[in-house]
Amino acid sequence: MTLVEKINETCDFLRQKGMTAPEFGLILGSGLVELAEEVENAVVLDYIDIPNWGRSTVVGHAGKLVYGDLAGRKVLALQGRFHFYEGNPLEVVTFPVRVMKALVCECVLVTNAAGGIGFGPGTLMAISDHINMTGQNPLIGENLDDFGPRFPDMSNAYTADYRKTALAVADKLGVKLDEGVYIGVTGPCYETPAETRAFKTLGADSVGMSTVPEVNVAAHSGPKVLGISAITNHAAGFQSELNHEEVVAVTERIKEDFKTLVKAILAEL
Ligand code: HPA
Repeated sequence: MTLVEKINETCDFLRQKGMTAPEFGLILGSGLVELAEEVENAVVLDYIDIPNWGRSTVVGHAGKLVYGDLAGRKVLALQGRFHFYEGNPLEVVTFPVRVMKALVCECVLVTNAAGGIGFGPGTLMAISDHINMTGQNPLIGENLDDFGPRFPDMSNAYTADYRKTALAVADKLGVKLDEGVYIGVTGPCYETPAETRAFKTLGADSVGMSTVPEVNVAAHSGPKVLGISAITNHAAGFQSELNHEEVVAVTERIKEDFKTLVKAILAEL
């Protein structure tokens, strides 16, 4: 089956299940999946039951697709995303973005847990731009001409208007939201201290193992993107050691702010 046939098959399946015309796609990163539990009038599908869909294997990633109402908007939320480091081909990692586009989603809110380069643990950061340090690109191969151009423009990959709204909403709520550049790596190793220093020199403010492939595909065809990093730790070299449990623990602390902020942003966008 071609990629386009797979996208169409999955969209037909989701529409049959009642997942029609979402306004916003939500890709919820490590520890941030709880937001999907607040979706009202929810239609919930296990990833395993969705044709052509990937499987989630990381702790803190539930593996459910949730459709319904959140803050007065129709959302399609991924409770758990697919990472390249799990061994997923980038076609699988980015497939949900293709499906969101085909279901005519207007915006995808991409969230992640990330290491801070400059910003400290507990910071929420609106992503203004990214640096692709993965050495990979999901658009390599035959171009889907019906979706977008061979050479997509990345100048406005993260929609400036959405970010402006997000910053204004955060300000009104009294939630601190910074702004910065995300550098995407494949993982699963955390960075070496030398890599962190190099990334700082390159202009990165946060580092993580996701988001870049999804945003490359969104830049190709849509939807428009709002990206938010939850900074869970100082990137390696700025603290003595690093582990996944700590990342999960800090995410626990900031997720209330995160949930409040995202709902308010959805209502306002
Ligand atoms: N580096 C890469 N990915 C991450 C980190 C980090 O420090 N923290 C959470 N995800």
